[in-house]
Amino acid sequence: MKYDFTTIMDRLGKDAIAVDIPHSGNAEGFFADARVKDGFRIIPMWVADMNFPTVPTVPQAIIERAEHPAYGYFRPSKDYFDAIIRWHEESYGTAGLTPECIGYENGVLGGVVSALRILCQPGDSIIIQSPTYIGFTHCAEDNGWNLVLNPLIQDEKGIWRIDYEDLEKKVSQQDIHAAIFCSPHNPAGRVWEKWEIEKLMEIYRKYNVYVVSDEIWADLTMPGHHHTPTQMVSEDARMRTIAMYAPSKTFNLAGLVGSYHVVYNPYLRSRMTQAGAATHYNMMNVLSTHALIAAYSPEGREWVDELCQVLNGNLDYAVSYINENFKGVKTSKPEGTYMLFLDCTEWCRTHDVDIDTIQKRGIEVGVIWQDGRPFHGDCHIRLNLALPHSLVVEAFERMKKYVFTE
Ligand SMILES: Cc1ncc(COP(=O)(O)O)c(C=O)c1O
Repeated sequence: MKYDFTTIMDRLGKDAIAVDIPHSGNAEGFFADARVKDGFRIIPMWVADMNFPTVPTVPQAIIERAEHPAYGYFRPSKDYFDAIIRWHEESYGTAGLTPECIGYENGVLGGVVSALRILCQPGDSIIIQSPTYIGFTHCAEDNGWNLVLNPLIQDEKGIWRIDYEDLEKKVSQQDIHAAIFCSPHNPAGRVWEKWEIEKLMEIYRKYNVYVVSDEIWADLTMPGHHHTPTQMVSEDARMRTIAMYAPSKTFNLAGLVGSYHVVYNPYLRSRMTQAGAATHYNMMNVLSTHALIAAYSPEGREWVDELCQVLNGNLDYAVSYINENFKGVKTSKPEGTYMLFLDCTEWCRTHDVDIDTIQKRGIEVGVIWQDGRPFHGDCHIRLNLALPHSLVVEAFERMKKYVFTE
């Protein structure tokens, strides 16, 4: 490998909640009542950032820009838009993306809220496939919207599929006109096939549902899987979708802030731009702008290719380790993202323990994982595998010795 995915970074005290919160003795009440016992180093497997250094072009670009000691008001350069357009063309086969279709958003979740504000009145219902990323639930709760769940169903191979019948019934009977679509899907790890998105968007066309497509995970797809932008499946989909993107998940840049929306529909675009501007909070950061340009580069592409190989290795290892050692824990290999969603229902039943006990046992031995319930997984755990492989191995050995014990 050309880039470093094996060194264990010491992130403690380096602005990383991934390690700082569990290290502080669970001060923010994140992890049941568990504390990491002495003698176990923290293995951060919860919040969705990575324990890898980003592509070197990013810190280089930030340092270079920072050396020019003036950081006044600015507008994004042509390089910024060119970088995004080129990235979308080369990564997802996007055609016809122009600078005017691209608009700045501080964060993807903030962009999702802005989009839903222009599509929904307070009290309106929004349809979403569950399990869901926890942030969507917060968005709905904080803004007075009703999230209607369209549960995914696992087929005979364990692949999560959309239940189109349930979707159509709910959309038509509950008069729903807004949807959040997470593509690739966190936490189910699906990279939706084109036909699946087409079928979904056909239902949304039929019932006039506008779609906020969160594609923050678009670059993290495993071999054999390819991301299809929702807006690319038909002309109608292009016009009824507000899509959200960012380099943050791909390149580990969440702390820098800097996302963007893509909107082809001129009416929605104007409303979206207005919603973003009205708060006067939605302002670009000069360093993150340079970071995006440096990330969406040929070196960035090479780095992401290697990253996906590393993630794929970790996912393969984790899934086969679980299948061989933790009978009753169900999971399927994600096609994208670096998140594994563990269904512990059967294991808990046969061992007469609850999911809190499982989660606590892990945290006590430094395996910092996340309760699946806020993601709508009743007896589930969400596990982040964006770590050097040696740490993944160590985590699973601890799980075998201390958590999933017979
Ligand atoms: C699907 C999805 N959307 C949005 C976010 C958060 O993005 P941001 O930090 O840009 O708001 C995450 C983070 O995990 C996510 O998984």
